[in-house]
Amino acid sequence: MIHADFALRHAGQLATMLPNADEPLGRIRDGALAAREGRVVWIGEDRRLEGEVDLDGDLLDAAGACVIPGLVDAHTHPVFAGSREDEFAERVSGAAYPAQQSGERGIARTVRATRDADAATLLRLTEARANRFLVNGTTTIEAKTGYGLDLTHEAKSFDVLRQLAARLPLRIVPTFLGAHVVPPATDRAAYLRALTEEMLPTFKAQAIFCDAWCDEPAFTPAETRAILRRAKALGYQLRIHAAQLAPGEGPEIAAELGARSADHLEFATPVLCPGANFTTHGPRPPIEAMRDARLPMAIASDLNPGTSNSESLPYAMSLACVAWGISPLEALRGATLHPARSLGLEGLAGCLRPGSFADCIVLDVETPEAIPYYVGVNRVLQTVAGGVVWRPS
Ligand code: NIG
Ligand code: FE
Repeated sequence: MIHADFALRHAGQLATMLPNADEPLGRIRDGALAAREGRVVWIGEDRRLEGEVDLDGDLLDAAGACVIPGLVDAHTHPVFAGSREDEFAERVSGAAYPAQQSGERGIARTVRATRDADAATLLRLTEARANRFLVNGTTTIEAKTGYGLDLTHEAKSFDVLRQLAARLPLRIVPTFLGAHVVPPATDRAAYLRALTEEMLPTFKAQAIFCDAWCDEPAFTPAETRAILRRAKALGYQLRIHAAQLAPGEGPEIAAELGARSADHLEFATPVLCPGANFTTHGPRPPIEAMRDARLPMAIASDLNPGTSNSESLPYAMSLACVAWGISPLEALRGATLHPARSLGLEGLAGCLRPGSFADCIVLDVETPEAIPYYVGVNRVLQTVAGGVVWRPS
């Protein structure tokens, strides 16, 4: 008998996301799983559960609903204050996103509001976003800083992420995005010096990844190279915002420096952000080329106040299917297996098997492939993180 402190039973379809010979999703019909101390210890057909598992703890009855791994969002900017809904309205009537980045508008405006917010307010705002991730089925996020852009306010953002990770079952992988843009009213050379000489060494202890935005309103290829080289030497793993607004050298830099994720690369995971593409009227990414190259495409919410104000991965999956022709199966892998790999969590998050995190969601859908078919409504019934059923507080 296997000892467990949590079990889930009667999953009409349980998608492990680990393909086998006859099942691309590793689907188990009338499935069950058991967990101990936050990790899956048993997974199989419901009829075998009682004979094989000795449960001392909570039992969740999925009553025939679908169960999949908790979703993994590999690209989010959740620590910010203020709103830019007027810029959204302008874009809807024709304004271009890059044209909104001058002076005290755009990202600079969010930087100002984030610096002005006291720590308790920033925590409250970010906690509400974290709860919305869980409500919408996401149990792991990569979370970028990048709206503080100086030592004090980037530290405040990391503090918020640390406190949230302690309070909530959401898994948070922190990324230092000091190289988001040069902050308002700051000398460019002085900022680059502060970034490479002070901030990068200081935040190494708090972040797993370092990200930089290599695009016209942010950093040049030469600056991005210098920042990410320094980050790599300090021991950060790398991610990059590349070629978002125009073609550029970002993807090559990512390949050259061995980044974990970027766009258009052979050996990394492209993390696609359909929400941002949608509201900035961006071009369709080269899906066929990435598919032909067998790249593991991840789909992310890119939650941020400028281009994509949504915590919902199911919504991003629907968009990727409808606007770009990603298949529902690709979208499902793009919100589980592939982002987990891009965060270095392969085998732990984004799949269900003995040893993986006991993170899963119960959904009111006919099959796991039907998730993106439900557009803009939340079909998540339960979110389980670390073998505990999460309830919004
Ligand atoms: O991912 N590319 C850079 N950053 C964000 C936008 C940030 C903002 O507008 O506040 C993005 O789209
Ligand atoms: Fe982003």
